[in-house]
Amino acid sequence: MCGIVGYIGPKEAMPLLMEGLNKLSYRGYDSAGVAILENQELQVVKKKGKVAVLAGEITKYTFGGKIGIAHTRWATHGEPSDRNSHPHADCSGKIAVVHNGIIENYSSLKKHLQEKGHKFASETDSEVIAHLIEVHYKGNLEEAVRQAVLRMIGAFAIVVISKDHPNQLIVARQDCPLVIGINDNEIFIASDIPVLLEHTQKFLFLDSGEMAALSVGDVRISTFNGNRVQKLPQIINWEQGKIEKAGYEHFMLKEIEEQPRVVRDTLRGRLLAGGLVELEDFALPEDYLSQIKRIYMLACGTAYHAGLIGEHIFEDLLRIPVEVDLASEFRYRDPILDENTLVIAISQSGETADTLAGIKEAKAKGAKVIAITNVIGSSITREADHTIYTRAGAEIAVASTKAFIAQQIVMFLIALRLSQHAGSIAGGVLHEIAQALHDLPVQIQSILDNHQPIRDLAKHLAQQNPCGHYKYNDFFFLGRGLDEPIAREGALKLREISYIHAAAYAAGELKHGNIALLTSQTPVIVLLTQERIREKMISNIMEVIAREAPVMAVAYEDDNEIASIVPPFSGLSSNVMRIPRTISWLAPILATIPLQLLAYYSGLERGCDVDQPRNLAKSVTVE
Ligand code: AGP
Repeated sequence: MCGIVGYIGPKEAMPLLMEGLNKLSYRGYDSAGVAILENQELQVVKKKGKVAVLAGEITKYTFGGKIGIAHTRWATHGEPSDRNSHPHADCSGKIAVVHNGIIENYSSLKKHLQEKGHKFASETDSEVIAHLIEVHYKGNLEEAVRQAVLRMIGAFAIVVISKDHPNQLIVARQDCPLVIGINDNEIFIASDIPVLLEHTQKFLFLDSGEMAALSVGDVRISTFNGNRVQKLPQIINWEQGKIEKAGYEHFMLKEIEEQPRVVRDTLRGRLLAGGLVELEDFALPEDYLSQIKRIYMLACGTAYHAGLIGEHIFEDLLRIPVEVDLASEFRYRDPILDENTLVIAISQSGETADTLAGIKEAKAKGAKVIAITNVIGSSITREADHTIYTRAGAEIAVASTKAFIAQQIVMFLIALRLSQHAGSIAGGVLHEIAQALHDLPVQIQSILDNHQPIRDLAKHLAQQNPCGHYKYNDFFFLGRGLDEPIAREGALKLREISYIHAAAYAAGELKHGNIALLTSQTPVIVLLTQERIREKMISNIMEVIAREAPVMAVAYEDDNEIASIVPPFSGLSSNVMRIPRTISWLAPILATIPLQLLAYYSGLERGCDVDQPRNLAKSVTVE
C-alpha cells in the first residue's frame, strides 16, 4: 500500500517528511516523493526506487519550507517510474497532491479533463485528483477539494497543498487510512499512527467521507457534503516495539486482519452490477477466447493452492478442462501445450524462479500466459502476455495470507470474465455469485472478530507433557472437492509457521494407506463446507473418530449436526471453527481464515518466529 506524510508547523518540513517516509517503508513501495512549499514556491522531487534514492536527489537542493507532503508509492496504475511517483501537480503547478487508494472512475474523469485541455504527466489514476481540484479552484482550496472528492469513486486518502495557501493542508479520506497528529503549534498527517508517535500522542481520526482543512490553530472537519463535524482528539500511546506493525505484534496477524480490505480492494472497480466483470489489462481478443481448449495453472506453494481452487471454479463455470501443475515440475516435463492452451501463472512476489521458468516454457510452446501477481512491475509482468493484479498491498510476512485470498478472488473474476464471453452462466447464478462476493469482507471480519476459540484451540494443541515435549506433533488436514486445496493450505501454514509436521489428504485417500498413521496423538482437522459431498466427508470423520484421533472441524455457523459428530475436547469451549455460510465456490476463502489463525497462534504457542520462519524466504528467486 502507499504511504502518506504531511507537516505544517514551525520546523523545517523536509527532515520530518523523510523520517516519516522511512517509517512507512515497511508497507512496501517502489517509489517516493516530496513537495515543499516555501516563499510561494512549490518544490517537488520524486524518484523511482527506495527512500534512499529520493534522499540522494534532495541533497541537490535546499528546502527551508515549513509545510510539505510526502509519499511512498505501491504502484496500482502505471509502472514504477519517476513520473508516476507522487506528489502529482495540476497544470498550473500550484497544487500538489499525494494519494493512497484507487480511483475507480479515473479513466472517465481523465478523458473529461483532457477534453477540457488538461495535460497529464503520468499514467496514474492519482494525477486526476490534482487536475480535478484545479478545475474547481476559485480561490478556496478547501471547497475545490470538496468538489473534487464528490466526483471521485473509489478508495482514497489524500493530502493537498497549494502555492496560494502556504499555511494550509487539506486532507480527505474514503475507505483508506489517514491520521492527523496535533501539537500546540504543529500538525502532522500520516497513513498510520506509528509514524507520528515520536512527535505526538494526540490524534484526530476522520471517518470515511470526511475531510479537514488544517492550519496551525485552525482545524475544520466536515463531511464531503459540507456538514461541519466536531471531533475530540484521542491519546494513543503504543509502546515503541509495535511501531512497525501499526500496533500488531506481527506482520502476519496484521496481514490476516487486512483481508476484508484486501477483498474490497481486489474487487473494486472490477465486479460491476449484475455480476459483470471488467478486468484492466485483460486484453485477450474475443476470438482467442473462443479457441481456448485447455487451461493450465502454474504456481508454487500457497499460490499453487490458489490454482487448485481455480481448477474447480473454471471447470464448473466454463466447462473447459483445467490442469494445475507445480511450476517446478511443469518446467521439466516437456508439457503438451499449444496455441489453444491458456496458461495462468500465479505468484504473489512475481519473482519465483520456477514459475518464471514455467512461463518461458509455456510461451515457447505457443501458449498465451496471464499472470496473477501482487507486485506491480515484478518480473512475471514482463514474462506474461497479460497481468491481473491482486491488490493485497505489500505482504511482508513470509507466510502468504492476504495474497492467497486475493488470488482466489482474481481467479474467480477471470472465470466470470471468461464465462461472460461464453455466456455459460445463467443470470440468476451470476447475481448470486456477485452478492456472495460482496458479502465476503463482512463475513471475513466476523471470523476475525471471533478468533478467541481458535486461539484457545492452538493453546490446547500445544500442550506439553511433564518432560516438556509437545503432546501433538503430527497433524492431518482432510478435505474433499474445494475443501481439499484448503486442507493443503492449512497444512502448509501450520508446517511453515509452527514447524509441526502436518499433511493434507483428500479425505477419500484415508483408507488408501494414510489412516495407518492415525492414533489418539494425531489431531485431524477436517473441512466441511462442500454440501454436495458432505455425507462422504462425514463418513471419513467417523473413520477418524473410530481410531480415537482428536478431530477439529471447519464448518458453517448454521451446521447443527457437526457438533454432535465431533466429540469436544475436554476443557475446551469448541473444536469446531465456524464460518458464515456462503456459496460453495467462495467457501474456500472463508475456510482459509481460521486455518491461518490456527497456524499463527500455534506458532506463537511454540515460540516460533511467525514473520520470518527458519529456512524460509519470502520469495524463492532461485531454483
Ligand atoms: C506461502 O506461505 C509460502 N511462503 C510459499 O509457499 C509461497 O507461496 C511460494 O514460495 C510461492 O511464492 P510466490 O507466490 O511469490 O510465487
